[in-house]
Parts: sequence; C-alpha cells; structure tokens
Amino acid sequence: MQEAQQQKPVIFSGIQPTGVPHLGNYIGAWRNWKLLEDDYRCLYCLVDLHSLTIRQDPAELRRSTMQAYALLLAVGLDPTKSLLFVQSHVPAHAELAWILSCYTYMGELSRMVQFKEKSAKHDENINAGLFTYPVLQAADILLYQAALVPVGADQKQHLELTRDVAERFNKVYGDVFVIPEHRIPKVGARIMSLSDPTSKMSKSDPEETYISLLDRPDVIRRKIKRAVTDSEGEIRYDEENKPGVSNLLSILAVLTGRSIEACVDSLAGQGYGALKEATAEAVITTLSPVQAQFDALIQDKERLMQLMDEGAQGAARLAARTLAKVYKKIGLLPRG
Ligand code: TYM
Repeated sequence: MQEAQQQKPVIFSGIQPTGVPHLGNYIGAWRNWKLLEDDYRCLYCLVDLHSLTIRQDPAELRRSTMQAYALLLAVGLDPTKSLLFVQSHVPAHAELAWILSCYTYMGELSRMVQFKEKSAKHDENINAGLFTYPVLQAADILLYQAALVPVGADQKQHLELTRDVAERFNKVYGDVFVIPEHRIPKVGARIMSLSDPTSKMSKSDPEETYISLLDRPDVIRRKIKRAVTDSEGEIRYDEENKPGVSNLLSILAVLTGRSIEACVDSLAGQGYGALKEATAEAVITTLSPVQAQFDALIQDKERLMQLMDEGAQGAARLAARTLAKVYKKIGLLPRG
C-alpha cells in the first residue's frame, strides 16, 4: 500500500463467502465499499471463519470463497488501492477474538438478533461459535483501528457491540482501539426478499427470493416479474403498507443514481409491470459488466490466489501492530 494511503482513516468491512453474493450485499455494502476506496485506507475481507458457524461443505466453501474474491474484483474494487483478503489467512483475527471474548458479557451476546434468528433457523446446531460470532466481528474491525465500517442495516447491532467492547477495553488500558462508526446507506440499507418483502433478502432463503450477482438477464427478468407487490396498483414509496413496491423502487433508485421521487415521477400513470421492467433493466445494466469481468477473472485462479496472498500480507502487517499492543497492555510476556 502506498504511503499516501497510509495516512488516511481506515475502513474495514467484511462479507461471508458462502454462496454467491446477492443484490442486497451489492447495494447495502459492496457498492459503497467501492465509493470509499479513494478517500480511505480500505480493508475488505471475505470472512470465511464466520461462515463456519453453520456447517459448510468443504469443497463448496473453497469454491465459493474463490468466486467471491473474483467478484470483489469484478465489481471494481482495486487491489492496488484496497487490501482485499481472506480472514483465515490472517491468524490475528482469531487471536484477538479470544482476548476480546474475555471482555464481552454473555448477556450482551444473548441479546444479538442475528444469534436469535440463526439459532431458530438452525436449531440442530446452536454452537458456541454462533454465540461468540460478534466477538470475532469486533476483532476484525478493531484489529485494523478502523474508523468507519460500511454495512447494511442488519449489522448495526454488531457494530454497537464492537464499540461497547472497545470502549470497555480502552477504559481499563488507555486508548488502545479506535472506536468505529458504522456507515449505513440512506437508500438500500435493507433490500428485501422478492417473495416476502417484509423480510430481508438473504442467500440462505430459496433461490427465487433473491438475485445473485451471477444471475443472467433472463433469470433476473423472471425473478423480478414474479416479485410480490400488492393489489393497489399505485406506484408510491411506502415501506410499511407497500413493502414490495418500495423495495423495487429502492433498487431502481440506487442502481440508476436517481432519487426515489424521480423514479416515481418517471413511472407516473403506469402499472407495476412498468416498474418491474425498469427495475429489471437497471439490475441487468449493473450486473452485465460485473459478470463479464467475473467470467474472465475466474479463469485465472493462480492470479486470484496471488492477489489474495498480497492482500493478506498487507493486512497481517497492520494486524500485528494492534495485536502486539494489546498483548503488551494486558500483560502477556513478549516472545524473546
Ligand atoms: P453478510 O455476509 O451477511 O453481508 C455482507 C454485507 O451485506 C449487507 N447485506 C445487506 N444489505 C442490504 N440488504 C440486504 N438484504 C443485505 N443482506 C446483507 C450486510 O449488512 C453486510 O454489510 N457479520 C457480517 C460479516 C462481517 C463483518 C465484519 C461486516 C464479519 N466481520 C466486520 C463488517 C465488519 C455478515 O454476516 O455480513
């Protein structure tokens, strides 16, 4: 990373590399990751260790991690500007997570909505990792002294916990950690499922409920055509009473760079068919170049692994500084 980059405030964010990322991940997170690349020193991470809280098929996890890495590049993230890496390649994440787990209360972790939701969904495997997941997330962020964390709305609670743990630690040992702020987009922070617009778009739900970044145009048109709306017939933004229409309007607005009002105006007097068509075209226009890039990048696995390795080396250097500071503060004896 060049010297100018090193003076900038740090950004960290992550995504689980299971399955193909979806339109919610793109709009809620990745799009903004890209926008921040020039003004901050960015670290973007495929958090494979986090994915292990749910049983993964090993071959599939390897494949989807490689795919997600190619997609990071395909959406335009630039490895000469940002550190793009895989969490398990930097052991300091797991090391700091252990330390922080000794500064996090069971009560705090029990209140986490994601823990409650995931343990309800996977009641046959409520493992300790699922419970301590937010501690590893706090370690991801604090390890790099990140000032800002761009995420979708669903990560707000984990970010608040991260701040609480960091503040608690700093209170005892002095200013060890930067206290991070979250950055949640104004529009598109919570893209909803196409078949149930009252719940968020999620790749653990059936395929027709989300648009994967690798869905081809015919699939995108079909899925959006079938998206649940309402029987009123009027195009207007009203999250509470018209969640399906509002979701499509948010997608359309973000991807065309217009305001929601401008989108509503442009569709005045037309029906939901027109809204769906416009939305599908905006999604296709956004994803087609990404897919073309991806198709080329995924051919060259060696290059992907090399970039991954360079990203991990850069991240590991930064992480080592914080970890050494933490070890010293808490009284661990340094190695000779
Ligand atoms: P994950 O992998 O579920 O999602 C990655 C990012 O995508 C956002 N997102 C959405 N945004 C809008 N609408 C949706 N339907 C939607 N679904 C997901 C998420 O908010 C997130 O920004 N715990 C995190 C990963 C993580 C992390 C971190 C994030 C681990 N360590 C440190 C930030 C900083 C997660 O499971 O995200």
